Amino acid sequence: MSNQVTAKIVQHLGQVRLKLLAGERNKVIANIPGGWLREMHASNFDPSTEQKIVPCSSDGKLILTQNSGAPNYGNLSSCNIQNGDVIAAWSDGTQLKYPLQDLVLETKRQLRHNLSPFEEYIADAESNTDGYNGRILWSGLNADDLRTPALSMAFSDVLNGGNREALEKLYKYGILLIKDAPIDSSPEDQSNRAALEKLTANVLGYGPRQTLYGTIWSTSKSVNVDEGASTADSAYTADPIALHTDMTYYRDHAGLQIFCMTSQPPSGGENIFADGFAVGEALRKINPEAFEILSTVRRRYRCIDHAGGWHLEAIDPIISCTDGVITSIRHNNLDRLPDVPTDTVLEKYQSPEIFHEKLNEADKAWNMLLDSGDMRLVTRLELGEMVVVANQRCLHGRQTFVSSEKYPRTLTGAYVGQDDLESRMRECGIFV
Ligand SMILES: [Fe+2]
Repeated sequence: MSNQVTAKIVQHLGQVRLKLLAGERNKVIANIPGGWLREMHASNFDPSTEQKIVPCSSDGKLILTQNSGAPNYGNLSSCNIQNGDVIAAWSDGTQLKYPLQDLVLETKRQLRHNLSPFEEYIADAESNTDGYNGRILWSGLNADDLRTPALSMAFSDVLNGGNREALEKLYKYGILLIKDAPIDSSPEDQSNRAALEKLTANVLGYGPRQTLYGTIWSTSKSVNVDEGASTADSAYTADPIALHTDMTYYRDHAGLQIFCMTSQPPSGGENIFADGFAVGEALRKINPEAFEILSTVRRRYRCIDHAGGWHLEAIDPIISCTDGVITSIRHNNLDRLPDVPTDTVLEKYQSPEIFHEKLNEADKAWNMLLDSGDMRLVTRLELGEMVVVANQRCLHGRQTFVSSEKYPRTLTGAYVGQDDLESRMRECGIFV
C-alpha cells in the first residue's frame, strides 16, 4: 500500500480548493477551502499561546481583519507539494508553506475523525469504513480475555512509561484491567488513595474529578473517603445492579470510571461490563426502529441528595450519534425519569400513547440485548485489580453478594472527565 498523500487543486462552483488524497486509490481525506488554508497558517497564531491572533481595540472591540471575519483573501491560485510541504499561492500575491503532515492532521481533527500517527492514518484511509476509526467493538469476552495483554497491564507498568499503551487500549476497547495496584495494609495506610490519585493525575487525566461522591470514592465508609461525599446510590448496597453508565444526570458525564477491589466478600459481587457501542450496533441491525427511537428521543435523568445539597439533571438520548456513528451512551434505568413527548415527537408518533408504546418497545429491546449473555463480560475482581471503564462507551453492573464485617466487599475508585481523557490521548498521539 502506498503511503503517499497527494494534493491537487480543484474548481467547484467557481471556487478553488485544495483536495488531499491518500493511498493508491486516492481516497479523499479532505476538501480544503482557500480561506481555511490561509487562516490555519502558523503566522496567524501566537507561538507562545497557540491561540489565533485576533486584534482588538483598546476599548475591547474586535478589529476586523482576515482572522476575524473580514473577507477577500483572494483566490487560491496554485498549489504543489515540495519535499513534504504544501506551497500555496493566492491571487493577492501571498505565498505560504505548510507541512503536509500538519495539514492532514488538522483537517482530520476538524472533521472529527480519529487517527493515530500519520502512517496509521494512511492505512486507515484505505481500509476503515466503519466510522469507529480503530476502535474495536467487542462482545463474547470472558474473565480470561480481560486478563490478556490486549486488555490488561500491571499498575507499575502503567505508571512507569506506559501512558500511551494504557490510553491506546482504552481508546480501542473502552476497558482496561490494571493488575497489582497498591492497596492499604492498615487503616492508616493511604497507598490505595495515592495510587488512584497518581493514575488519574499522571496518566489518564489531570487528577480525580470532583463529583457528588467526592474525588476518590469508596463503597466503605471506613476507608478514606472525602468528607461530605454522597452515598445516595445503589452502589453502596449489596443489591445486584443492572448494566448502566455512571453520572447520566451530569451534562458532562464522566469519561472514565475506575474500580479497584480492596476487600472481597466471601461470595458473589462479580462485576459485569458491556461495550455500549457494540450493543448499540447490534440493536441497529436487529431492530432499526428501536435504534432510531433510542438515538433520537431525549430522556431525562436526575440525581437528588438533599443532605449533600445536590440536584443534578441532564437530558439526552440513550445513544448519541454523530453522522450516524455512535459517539456516546447514557443509560441508567434507576436515574431515568418517565418521558413526556415533545411536540416534535408527537408529530412523528401521532399520539402520546403510540409514542409510549414505541418507546417501551425500544427500551425493552435495548435492555434485552444488555442482558443477553454474549454482550456481558462477567468477572470477579481479585484484590488489587482495577478496571478502568470508558464511561461514555462501556456499561458496568454487578451481581449480588453476601459480605460480613470481617470480609466486606469494598471497592474504591475515581472518575476522570472526558475532556481530560481526550487531552491526554492527544498528547500521546492518539487523535480523538
Ligand atoms: Fe455505577
